[in-house]
Amino acid sequence: MGDEKTNQKKRSTGVNRRDFLASGGLTLGAAALASSSLKALGCADPSCQDKSGTGGQPMASDMGVIGDCTSGTLDPDLFLTHFDWGKVTKDLGDGKKRREYTFFAVDKEIEIAPGLFFPAWAYTSETPHDQDGNQIPGPGGSTGHVPGPTIRCREGDEIYIKFINQNNHPHTIHFHGYHSSEMDGSMKHQFVFQNETFEYEFMAEPFGLHLYHCHSVPLKRHIHKGLYGTYIIDPKEGREPARELVMVMNGFDTNFDGDNEIYAVNSVANHHMRYPIKVKKDELVRIYLVNTTEFDSINSFHLHANFFYENRTGTSMKAEYFTDTVMFCQGERSILEMRFPKTGLYMFHAHQSEFAELGWMGNFEVV
Ligand code: CU
Ligand code: CU
Repeated sequence: MGDEKTNQKKRSTGVNRRDFLASGGLTLGAAALASSSLKALGCADPSCQDKSGTGGQPMASDMGVIGDCTSGTLDPDLFLTHFDWGKVTKDLGDGKKRREYTFFAVDKEIEIAPGLFFPAWAYTSETPHDQDGNQIPGPGGSTGHVPGPTIRCREGDEIYIKFINQNNHPHTIHFHGYHSSEMDGSMKHQFVFQNETFEYEFMAEPFGLHLYHCHSVPLKRHIHKGLYGTYIIDPKEGREPARELVMVMNGFDTNFDGDNEIYAVNSVANHHMRYPIKVKKDELVRIYLVNTTEFDSINSFHLHANFFYENRTGTSMKAEYFTDTVMFCQGERSILEMRFPKTGLYMFHAHQSEFAELGWMGNFEVV
């Protein structure tokens, strides 16, 4: 069955991952090739090179990439619902906890589209725990992941992060949210060099949807290489139970020309076109949506056939907007809440068509 499916895919495109690998090596050669394939398949321009065997007709229904990522270097499915509550080392009373994390910065080659590898810098957490204090696997294990692990806590918790830099460039972790000047991770004297350690400590406030990223220089390169993640502070009273998903909109400059060739949520181009996100009819779906895209001044999220409530930065309990499209600068983020009243496939993607065609699109499958 599985083979038949794969064969069908191969027949319909005429190109598979093996062809990519055979033709251009794993990094830059494949980068240019995969990028042009993405463009060709996604493009409605009849002058696009035909790889479909349909006699030059554009294949609008084939928006996406050829093949699948098989290296296991990234785990967008685990990442989507992964929340790292850290190791609770102290009960501070009144529902507050001290949460301790150990983070590393490491080198990692990540497969961002089938056969296309990007030399990333990645954060990894050695201490992923669920809400109940059980140790859980983190995306990428101890080898790191882009985006980095989603840090989750409650308003008023004490956060302690031991950061060890195992990469040969100086890095930091700069958190959004309140903290003292010493904990900012943005000044030259706060850069953490190879094999050095820095301890970040602050109280989790204000509640909302935040992010963290490296603040070493050159800043755009350090962020773009993959050193960013989501930092969620729940309000004391909590939020309504929901199916919760983390989506980090990002891009990759695979040929280092200062422009992105691949766009995605959670790094893997078109992953949720191949593997739609399953949600239940009528259940509350909550998306923690963050934009970390470098080199483009904006990114956006559009949902088909539905509308959602938007709470910008998640800092209030009341949504400000009811819409189907939001647009963010780098560092902007919102909590989106929606329900799907009917079963079926519903697309979501950047409303910059170019980004969508270069990998930033996916489907919800409502069951
Ligand atoms: Cu850095
Ligand atoms: Cu920032």
